[in-house]
Amino acid sequence: MNTASRLKVLAGKKLTDLAPAELAAALAAAEHVLVDVGTGDARTAYRQAVAHPGWLVIGVDPAWQRMTETAVRAARKPAKGGAPNLVLVNAAIEAAPTALHGVADEVTVLMPWGKLLRGVVLGEDDVLAGLRAVAKDGAPLEVSIGTSIWRDPVPLEIRDLPELTPDSVKSTGLADRLAAFGWQIVDVRLVPHTELETISSSWARRLGSGATETVLHLRAVAVDPGGPVRPDQTADETGDDATGEPERGA
Ligand SMILES: C[S@@+](CC[C@H](N)C(=O)[O-])C[C@H]1O[C@@H](n2cnc3c(N)ncnc32)[C@H](O)[C@@H]1O
Repeated sequence: MNTASRLKVLAGKKLTDLAPAELAAALAAAEHVLVDVGTGDARTAYRQAVAHPGWLVIGVDPAWQRMTETAVRAARKPAKGGAPNLVLVNAAIEAAPTALHGVADEVTVLMPWGKLLRGVVLGEDDVLAGLRAVAKDGAPLEVSIGTSIWRDPVPLEIRDLPELTPDSVKSTGLADRLAAFGWQIVDVRLVPHTELETISSSWARRLGSGATETVLHLRAVAVDPGGPVRPDQTADETGDDATGEPERGA
């Protein structure tokens, strides 16, 4: 097995290879496959897995040590809080293992930072291609970015990033770059802190109810790369409610 096809997953506190047959069986049994990219401590992915036992939830993050606490919890018996339908993968999305290609019915990127944030904000080829690679045709992509990162003191590593707004998504050419990699935008909006509970993210929760965070929420759908952009396509066609907001478990 070469490195690209190998799936390094958390088994409790340790990294191990997930056998292809085991992944295939889990995918075949799942009614819905959610891939949460930049899953961090994986608590959000865990909550989704527990709320939807028929789903397979795959958290992806190169910082695997951050996922260990959740991995230990998920490995328990279901009656004791275990989540056998949660798989936590040690990988960066720009090097998404081939085993994950084309598996996702839904892709989420919640409160990214580092390479993932840069890749999404600048529309970098490797990150957009990696996100598209894991998605099935027609799968929605939900990206949520806290806009406070663009307020002083702006972290050094993102000072050169343009602030993402519903307008700048078009004016900076990001919408075109997404389309070139097979992501057609269907909705971009600013979600005020009063509605933050609609976004299930450990990071958003950590901001707390008193925070004045506004979150940029971008929703796209997986289409043919470089295929014709259909401005008439609405969120309704992707099977979601009119608000474009994801329905999240608690
Ligand atoms: C602020 S944390 C957010 C965690 C989680 N999504 C949440 O909302 O609680 C951002 C995560 O993005 C991950 N990340 C950064 N670059 C990445 C990349 N290239 N591919 C996948 N994940 C990445 C980081 O390791 C980090 O865990």
